[in-house]
Amino acid sequence: MNATLDMLRVRRSVPPVRLEGPGPSREELDDLLTIAARVPDHGKLAPWRFLVIEGEARLTVGEAIAKTHAADFPDADAGRLDLERKRLAHAPLVVAVVSRAGPHVKIPEWEQVLSAGAVCTNLVIAANAAGYATSWLTEWFAYDRRILDMLGLEPSEKIAGFIHIGRPQEVPSDRPRPVLAEIVTRL
Ligand SMILES: Cc1cc2nc3c(=O)[nH]c(=O)nc-3n(C[C@H](O)[C@H](O)[C@H](O)COP(=O)(O)O)c2cc1C
Repeated sequence: MNATLDMLRVRRSVPPVRLEGPGPSREELDDLLTIAARVPDHGKLAPWRFLVIEGEARLTVGEAIAKTHAADFPDADAGRLDLERKRLAHAPLVVAVVSRAGPHVKIPEWEQVLSAGAVCTNLVIAANAAGYATSWLTEWFAYDRRILDMLGLEPSEKIAGFIHIGRPQEVPSDRPRPVLAEIVTRL
């Protein structure tokens, strides 16, 4: 019997529209981010950072997302713009994990990118272990330079994921999982 393993056996992502408050307190979030940053990191480069989006900031960013969508799709209806505006506003808290991977004399960029993925996974596991539910999403705006500029990302930085964190209103039924025999080879 191990609480973390039991949680991991059944963990499911919960869509942001099914996440509600209260979210983690400042102190609790600091603890979750400290745990999330405790990942394998070849060369100890910390090639990632966090951007915490909470409270009013969720709608401020959402406004920029909606405006960018409207600029690209002038015919977008009010319903679609509302969806875009609320992209980050459902869960009480969204943490953007930002990859700072780049060329390095010794450490391949690929390994730095993997470390950012590990940060996302650690944050997901830590938040779920603390009783929250999460969704690790990117969506189109994670790849849109106008939004990245608005979020203050350097040209070399990328979004590894927006981790939406909240209390689950309900947990969706499970999805099919990979069959072990199809993904494991023994030598
Ligand atoms: C880097 C990354 C980005 C993702 N972005 C999206 C996304 O934009 N939209 C989406 O529906 N799912 C996205 N997903 C998938 C969800 O995080 C999640 O895996 C999926 O909803 C299945 O949930 P599960 O965690 O219960 O298996 C992404 C996953 C990863 C690893």
